[in-house]
Amino acid sequence: MSVSHRRFLACRESTALGTSDATLASRGWRVNKASHKLTRNQAVRECLMVARVHTVAFSGVEVLPIQVQVSLTGGLPAFTIVGLPDKAVAESRERVRAALTAIGLALPPKRIVVNLAPADLQKEGSHYDLPVACGVLTAMGVLPAEEMDAYMILGELGLDGSIAAVAGVLPAALAARRDERGLICPGAQGGEAAWAGDDMEVLAPAGLLELINHLKGSQTLGRPRPEARDEDAPLADLADVKGQESARRALEVAAAGGHNMLMTGPPGAGKSMLAARLPGILPPLAPDEALEVSMIHSVAGHLAEGRLITRRPFRAPHHSASMPALVGGGLRARPGEISLAHNGVLFLDELPEFSRPALEALRQPLETGRVAIARANGHVTYPAQVQLIAAMNPCKCGYLDDPALACSKAPRCGEDYRGRLSGPLLDRIDLHVTVPAVDPFALAPAASPEGSAPVAARVRTAREGQWERAAVLSREGLGGGRVPRLNARLDGEALDRVAAPDAAGRRLIGEAVERLHLSARSYHRLLRVARTLADLDGRDAVARLHVAEALSYRPIPLAGAGAARQDPGAGEGRRRGGRATL
Ligand SMILES: Nc1ncnc2c1ncn2[C@@H]1O[C@H](COP(=O)(O)OP(=O)(O)OP(=O)(O)O)[C@@H](O)[C@H]1O
Ligand SMILES: [Mg+2]
Repeated sequence: MSVSHRRFLACRESTALGTSDATLASRGWRVNKASHKLTRNQAVRECLMVARVHTVAFSGVEVLPIQVQVSLTGGLPAFTIVGLPDKAVAESRERVRAALTAIGLALPPKRIVVNLAPADLQKEGSHYDLPVACGVLTAMGVLPAEEMDAYMILGELGLDGSIAAVAGVLPAALAARRDERGLICPGAQGGEAAWAGDDMEVLAPAGLLELINHLKGSQTLGRPRPEARDEDAPLADLADVKGQESARRALEVAAAGGHNMLMTGPPGAGKSMLAARLPGILPPLAPDEALEVSMIHSVAGHLAEGRLITRRPFRAPHHSASMPALVGGGLRARPGEISLAHNGVLFLDELPEFSRPALEALRQPLETGRVAIARANGHVTYPAQVQLIAAMNPCKCGYLDDPALACSKAPRCGEDYRGRLSGPLLDRIDLHVTVPAVDPFALAPAASPEGSAPVAARVRTAREGQWERAAVLSREGLGGGRVPRLNARLDGEALDRVAAPDAAGRRLIGEAVERLHLSARSYHRLLRVARTLADLDGRDAVARLHVAEALSYRPIPLAGAGAARQDPGAGEGRRRGGRATL
């Protein structure tokens, strides 16, 4: 048995502070009378004290508590981190060593062991630097052990002792509050942490020295103030879009009910332009939604300057995006675009140009509103309740419907191009809209289309009606007491209750089911869209007119995007700029 091991056992057996010098001496400790106190404290600290500080690990947006245990023992000087650290965590040794040196402290010439418990959970990221440094400083007696127990700590250290921003401060702050602890986080992210609540302590030092001074009482760190993003930045306005009445109407319907929408049309028709104007007509995030969205962006490390997001996200990834970029995952799991667009809009421009696996991977989250990523050591889930807005040309060259411009492969090329999209994906899209080539005369300055403000007001009223209805149904216990707030997500009994059409509407639906061979999913989609149209109309009941307009948003037949349809209810469609087919 080595001397240090014997010493350890001796101290563990004794109640250290009550152990007499003779006993300590008999167990291998040489008690130096001249520096009695120092030697004795050392003995006790070395053998018994394991410093403990608290930090977190992330699994999706979930926060798991992690304890950083640090022991300083005699033996050959070493600094080891155990507990399944990844490369970034293992490298934190060097950053901690350098940061301590930078503020004039040196690591003791001891065997330093840092254990990240629970040891069987993979630890990823650079946010362990600060808790490891605090743990070591506590073990060294520089920081008060009892006080450190009252905080959750996360932050990355620079070699100069500065504390750099890390991902996940907002969810960590909320977890700390649940745990009745304070939070120590990087200075730049104090505003983010402060959202967790006024009643919790948040320390946001810019550097390690500031933190030590505060904890030792020689300096006071002020409480950071919660900050939200600047909402005054102007959004693109619908007034810029000339003509395109039916596409504008469809955009309003999509915004009102949270419906997925696909726009098909030739190049330069204004599809991308229309999509970019959607955020301007969507209502701002409700406080609980803002927190959810900000948590995801925080975990992804995208919450700029620690400010909460209050505007609905609008994500428009390029069509070269890979599957992990779209749905999340990768070597170190990160939320994908669909999760970053949670409670907002995912805009996929040039839809058929996206890789097939990437598009297919969207199917499950579009249905469930969650992304589940399987990893070697478990599942990670992210929320992903998005409104999908997509745009595409009818064929590769884009001019399928224009005999003067269409290429020699028409209409075959249109079928091939549409064939890149799977049926099930198209089936998840509520509104299929044709955006025809814009008439240049409509672009004349004389034409002054409606701007975003009145459309946004109608959308807001329609959505408020949906929220109230969902609250009433939830109170009645429908859908397990959690009826979705948006028509686009209604299902089952809740959908049957709120979207039951009147007698004339029922007759029209019956005809449509028979003549168009509607699937069960198409039928439900029809009901949801009809419900939104009734909401925009301010009607309690879904009427035949709403059903007729909803039918006009069915998928466009493959042979040519502009092909006229023989729809039931033709001629009675929409009041405002109805489609040519109705
Ligand atoms: N309805 C419109 N009103 C005003 N400007 C328009 C309209 N449609 C197109 N434009 C003009 O044409 C430009 C191109 O529009 P946009 O990028 O939205 O077309 P697109 O349908 O997305 O084309 P593509 O299929 O090539 O992506 C716009 O920036 C705008 O200047
Ligand atoms: Mg475009």
